Amino acid sequence: MNKRRMPFIVFEGLDGSGLTTQASRLHEWLSSKGYEVFLTKEPTDGLIGSLIRSALRRELIIDPDTLALLFAADRTLHTKEISKLLNEGVIVISDRYRLSSFAFQSIEVELEWIRKINEKALTPDLTFIIDTPPLICLRRIQKQRFHMELYEEVDKLERIREVYHRLAEEERGVFLIDGNRPENVVSSDIFTILRDSGLLEGLE
Ligand code: TMP
Repeated sequence: MNKRRMPFIVFEGLDGSGLTTQASRLHEWLSSKGYEVFLTKEPTDGLIGSLIRSALRRELIIDPDTLALLFAADRTLHTKEISKLLNEGVIVISDRYRLSSFAFQSIEVELEWIRKINEKALTPDLTFIIDTPPLICLRRIQKQRFHMELYEEVDKLERIREVYHRLAEEERGVFLIDGNRPENVVSSDIFTILRDSGLLEGLE
């Protein structure tokens, strides 16, 4: 078994940005090259993740601070699972991680406190923020489903996008990828960045 800690790669972006598609495409690409890869997502489908989903659908009404804590608690449990896999020689790709909390929750809750309650989260080796204009995201979401969730209004999405842009400048290993292009072109940029990062060297 490979004893080196394996790469932890995260996809971020607005709902409808294409982040889930890109996470799956990377999963497929790495698997086809023979790597052992696990694709996971947040909110998780555990107990806390289910509570969060009820809040996102507005079935459960909770205040923004409590929602931020629920996301952090869901992430704490998820992080244990991710760390175990990374130590066992598996590359982990997560569809959303702590930058989602920084970007989404910070439109209503102080960012410093969100950072604090997420202190125990891992620092991913690479994060790809799929950057797609909010109006295009909303058009895509409306085609896929009838109900709208908590963070799916254009002005909120604009504010969340601004935070993502700031985070891309401030945080190490975070890449802003133009998501308003054909899926395969976006993927090709992502594969190139990962190849050039050196993270895959010596893992075959
Ligand atoms: P998704 O399952 O379609 O990605 O939707 C999850 C929603 O939850 C999406 O609107 C982003 C939001 N979210 C947060 O607000 N904070 C977080 O920490 C995470 C992981 C997701």
